[in-house]
Amino acid sequence: MPPEACNRPRGSECVYTPAMSQNTAIVIGVGPDRGLGAQLCRRFAGESLHVLVAGRTREKLDAVVRSIEADGGSAESVVADATSEADTRALFDRAGEQLSLAIYNAGNNTPGRIEDMEADYFERSWRVCCFGGFLFGREAVRRMKPRGGGTLLFTGASASLRGRASFGAFNSSKAALRTLAQAMAKEYAEDGIHVGHVVVDGAIAGEKIRTLLPQYAEQLGEEGMIGIEGIVDGYVFLHRQPRTAWSFELDVRTSKEKW
Ligand SMILES: NC(=O)c1ccc[n+]([C@@H]2O[C@H](COP(=O)([O-])OP(=O)(O)OC[C@H]3O[C@@H](n4cnc5c(N)ncnc54)[C@H](OP(=O)(O)O)[C@@H]3O)[C@@H](O)[C@H]2O)c1
Repeated sequence: MPPEACNRPRGSECVYTPAMSQNTAIVIGVGPDRGLGAQLCRRFAGESLHVLVAGRTREKLDAVVRSIEADGGSAESVVADATSEADTRALFDRAGEQLSLAIYNAGNNTPGRIEDMEADYFERSWRVCCFGGFLFGREAVRRMKPRGGGTLLFTGASASLRGRASFGAFNSSKAALRTLAQAMAKEYAEDGIHVGHVVVDGAIAGEKIRTLLPQYAEQLGEEGMIGIEGIVDGYVFLHRQPRTAWSFELDVRTSKEKW
């Protein structure tokens, strides 16, 4: 049980009453405010979920929590490396028994030509984009099964669907994450767990592209980058779908994208 779920004064015994407590969401892979992870947290906090804002950098997580609280929502930050089994377990322990939504958003791009690539670089790409998804997905279904269901969503990219020169490490690990998600969708549907995958097909109009690749952002222009709000709408749509009409996958791109 998250300590916050207890509303008695500190020191007195707390009896946890799941029916009365708030449903919880976990988003791992949260960075700056104008990034997909942060905006997912903000939107689902606005949907009355208590959000565990998880990622590697405390300051970024705390800033997201502050913005949620300023809007009247409920959230807490959890420093966790998605590639660590211990961190992932601890994160889910913290979420308590009311976990209804879990989103795996970690997955930074790892460009590079194969002939120049260190084995360790390739492996690290796979650890963040695929292995971490396995650790996260496994803990999510372990916690959601006893509850009779939940939603588990994974963030994909153009890389999830096709290989491209100079992106072999990223392409292969994102594609593996997608088939992992698809296998889980089939494996846990009968347990009431809705597993979904969102293909973000192009550059996000967020802080990452604007700060790391400003010339690229300028070249694409506002209409050539995918709006974060629209992407987040897709996650909300998937989470709200009734069991009689589940989608596994949504793809999101701008009207300018050649695909
Ligand atoms: N940006 C794009 O144009 C784009 C396009 C298509 C798909 N995507 C996908 O969208 C997702 C990210 O969205 P975003 O680019 O807007 O970034 P974001 O959600 O703002 O930030 C993602 C955060 O993930 C964190 N992270 C990286 N490795 C991690 C790990 N091992 N454990 C925990 N957290 C970790 C990073 O934390 P630190 O800040 O500590 O490094 C980063 O800030 C990724 O799955 C990516 O593949 C992005």
